[in-house]
Amino acid sequence: MSEGLERQEFTLPQTFYIYFNDIDPEHEGLVEVINGCVPRLVDGILEEFEEPFEKFVARLVGHFRNEESHMRALGYDGLEWHAGHHAECLERVHELIRGMRSRGYAGMQDLRVCFHDIIYDIAHADLQFGEFVENLGLTQRRR
Ligand SMILES: [Fe+2]
Ligand SMILES: [Fe+2]
Repeated sequence: MSEGLERQEFTLPQTFYIYFNDIDPEHEGLVEVINGCVPRLVDGILEEFEEPFEKFVARLVGHFRNEESHMRALGYDGLEWHAGHHAECLERVHELIRGMRSRGYAGMQDLRVCFHDIIYDIAHADLQFGEFVENLGLTQRRR
């Protein structure tokens, strides 16, 4: 059963790229942390989840801070709302980790929820900021 899981990988859809500054590579970096957990699942279970999830939270916090500082620098009027969205995403991740601790392990479903959390913020908030920077002519050339 774990053989199938080892081949699974989370991928950020190209339609979710912002093409601004270091935002996309940071999103990919977050997905990479989750992907790094997949081959470590043994029969669908990862007992040593503290280290990768500590890394995930640190990266997520750093990424949110970075996005917000870009928004502040550009006078983006959606900053306050977006920052609230980030706080909610972070709280969901903390809730997820609390669940893992009480269970004693992380499973594939936890990884899916983490991936969803990244996607959720991009779809609901980052892409709006993406339109803002595109209207300012600040996005890199679309591929
Ligand atoms: Fe983001
Ligand atoms: Fe965001």
